[in-house]
This record gives sequence, structure tokens and C-alpha cells, in this order.
Amino acid sequence: MNYALVTGASKGIGRSIAEQLAAKGKNLLLIARSEEALKELQLFITQKYNVRADYLALDLALADAAPQALAWLTQHNYAVDVLVNNAGYGLWGKFDTRTIESHNEMLQVNLLTLVYLTHALLPELKKHKQSYILNVASTAAYQAVPTLSLYAASKSFVLLFTRGLRLELKDSGVSVSCLCPGPTSTDFVARAGMSAAIKKKSDTFSMTADDVAEIGLRGLYKGKAEIIPGLLNKIIVVFTACAPKCITEKIANDLYKK
Ligand SMILES: NC(=O)c1ccc[n+]([C@@H]2O[C@H](COP(=O)([O-])OP(=O)(O)OC[C@H]3O[C@@H](n4cnc5c(N)ncnc54)[C@H](OP(=O)(O)O)[C@@H]3O)[C@@H](O)[C@H]2O)c1
Repeated sequence: MNYALVTGASKGIGRSIAEQLAAKGKNLLLIARSEEALKELQLFITQKYNVRADYLALDLALADAAPQALAWLTQHNYAVDVLVNNAGYGLWGKFDTRTIESHNEMLQVNLLTLVYLTHALLPELKKHKQSYILNVASTAAYQAVPTLSLYAASKSFVLLFTRGLRLELKDSGVSVSCLCPGPTSTDFVARAGMSAAIKKKSDTFSMTADDVAEIGLRGLYKGKAEIIPGLLNKIIVVFTACAPKCITEKIANDLYKK
């Protein structure tokens, strides 16, 4: 029996991805910190979609998070053929207004645990005739974003890592894709500690988590390299690639200033 493992499944985009995978008949393994939310999702999914689901409440900022997750999978003998590395967050504000410990935790969740989990699960993923990895980056991966500098850099890492890995695995049965959402209505803005003014601006352009998840999964199963949900986000990414960096960085600076 095969499972899809989704990190950051307790809410937002990860929850929508988990629910839509269940709707396709996929058994699920859910990871996030919030045990209550995971338990509620497990119940909801198993009753509504008649699939199996289990969860692990785990802080992915811990240095040994990936080994802990792997021990759980091994203990239950779970076979994973879809890995969705979705857990992540931003910290808004000037770089030196946050402690180095908080930056370190964010990097651990956004990139190190993603790398470790991918490394730990690749032998398992390769056992299947066809398997999938979906790494969640952001449109922030395409340019520097002042006041979200480290977050944008962490998502650039995810995007480049994903593209490289995809080619390394092209002759295997493991298909690797990167989902790069733009603003999406989730708890992201609150967790990042953004101001009400930025939230208001972001809300104007936001997509729903369900739409992002649907486009993400469609792209994943089509084997796409990069999945950018929404026409506006696609236009912004093309503009970013063509326009001088000083212009795109000034626009981002003005957008996220206050
Ligand atoms: N919303 C946006 O505008 C947007 C735009 C571009 C990219 N993204 C990316 O999309 C992904 C999902 O974010 P979202 O928008 O759905 O935000 P969200 O609603 O805040 O959800 C974040 C998910 O990550 C989990 N998570 C955060 N820190 C964790 C930790 N230390 N250990 C384990 N799990 C942790 C959260 O679960 P717990 O809190 O229960 O741990 C939650 O399930 C992230 O990678 C984010 O960077 C979001």
C-alpha cells in the first residue's frame, strides 16, 4: 500500500494538497507541529475519502527532524511514492531585527529538513515504477525581496535544488517538480509577522490555497519542472526575468516596506 507524505499538512496549501490527494484516492502521511489539526484532518480525510491516513506531530526546525520522520516511516513500514515538501514560512522585517536563532530555525524548515527528507526518502521513492517529489518554493524564489531577504533566498535554493535534482533523476521513475505560488490566502502573512498594510495589499492579489493545490497537483502529475499558479504570477515571473534587477527589487522593496 503506497502513501503520499505531505509536510506542513495542518493548514494552508499543505492541507489543500493533502485533501486533494485523498480525493484522488491516495493514502496519506501528514506531518506538521499542530497535533490537534493533524488529528482532525486525518479523521476528516479517512471518513470522507475512504483512504488511509496517519500523522506525525513533529517540529521540522529540529536538527534531527528528518531522522525522526524516517524512523516513524520505517517503524510502520510505510511505502512512500509521493513526497510533498511543503512546510515553510517567512520572517518579515529587516534581517538584523530578527535573532540569528530564528533565522536558523527558518532555514532548517525551509531548506535543510527538505534536503534531508528528500535524501532519506530517495531510496524508497526509487523502488517504485513511478514516484513524485513536489517541493514548494515561491515566486519570491525569482528575485531578491528586501524585508524577506532570507526567505526569498531560501526559496531560490529550493527552486535551484529542485531543478538540478530533476535532471539527475530524469532516467529514473522519480519525477521532480517545484511549485512556486504567489500570494495565497493562508496563515503565511500572520506567521511572517507582516503589517496589516502589507496583508491588505497581499489580499488583493491572493489566490486560494485550494486553487494553488489543484494547479500544483495537476502540474506534478504532468511532470512539469516549475509550476507557477495563476496568470498574474506567471506575468510577474516573466517580467522579473526580463526587467533590470534594480527595478524589480525597488518594486518589491516598496511593496513590502510597511
Ligand atoms: N501563502 C503564501 O502567500 C505563499 C506564497 C508562496 C509560497 N508559500 C509557501 O507555501 C508553503 C505553505 O505555506 P502556507 O501559505 O500554506 O502557510 P501556512 O498556512 O502558515 O502553513 C504552513 C504549514 O507549514 C507547517 N510548518 C511551519 N513551521 C513548521 C515547523 N517548524 N515544523 C513543522 N511544520 C511546520 C505549518 O504547520 P504547524 O504550524 O502546525 O507546524 C503549516 O502546516 C510554505 O513553504 C510557504 O513558504 C506560501
